[in-house]
Amino acid sequence: MNGIYKLPGIRQMNSSSCGVGWWWLMALVVLVLAGCEAPTEDEAPPADEEAPPAEEVPAAEVEVGPEGPAQIDDGGITEIPDDPELIEEGEALFRANGCSACHAVEVDQIVVTGPSLVGVTERRQPEWIARMILAPGEMLDLDPTAQEMLAEYMVIMPDQNLSVEEVRAIMAYLGTLLEP
Ligand code: HEC
Repeated sequence: MNGIYKLPGIRQMNSSSCGVGWWWLMALVVLVLAGCEAPTEDEAPPADEEAPPAEEVPAAEVEVGPEGPAQIDDGGITEIPDDPELIEEGEALFRANGCSACHAVEVDQIVVTGPSLVGVTERRQPEWIARMILAPGEMLDLDPTAQEMLAEYMVIMPDQNLSVEEVRAIMAYLGTLLEP
């Protein structure tokens, strides 16, 4: 305690007032410090409020038939061509455009990215297939069957920007992928 009383600023105080004064001073300092140290940081901005899920734009509540939404261009393709040359050309286009990366073309082939195309011309209308290859994005927006597949595979089929002629050729090839 003696050390304290010898501090320069306090030395001139008489001993009785000094004891009380010192503790008041200490109390004050503590209060001030506490006050200073009180967190003054600006209120943290509220954690990015999660944007309310964008309302799914409901696909037009119009019944979509097995040919797919009429407003999507089907390139005028209404049947599966069976011209051998076209089939050959279609097979080459199918490989060149990366379709085979996502689609199996044989029964025992395992490709998990997209649905197997074996038998696709038996389960879908030509117009529907044409629309799916010509405009997969629009099909996924509007066609319930395409949307069901998207929900299953969780992959968006890319638009390969193929011409109607190329799609016709590819469809000729798809016509050869029959269920055994
Ligand atoms: C990146 C992977 C991917 C590529 C590349 C791709 N597709 Fe697809 N395809 C899909 C998926 C996944 C679906 C199911 C719908 C969806 O989720 O988009 C699909 C659906 C289809 C369907 C409908 C199948 C059914 O059972 O009804 C056809 C036909 C089709 N694709 C043909 C093609 C052709 C032809 C090409 C090449 C020009 C191609 N796809 C390229 C992933 C792909």
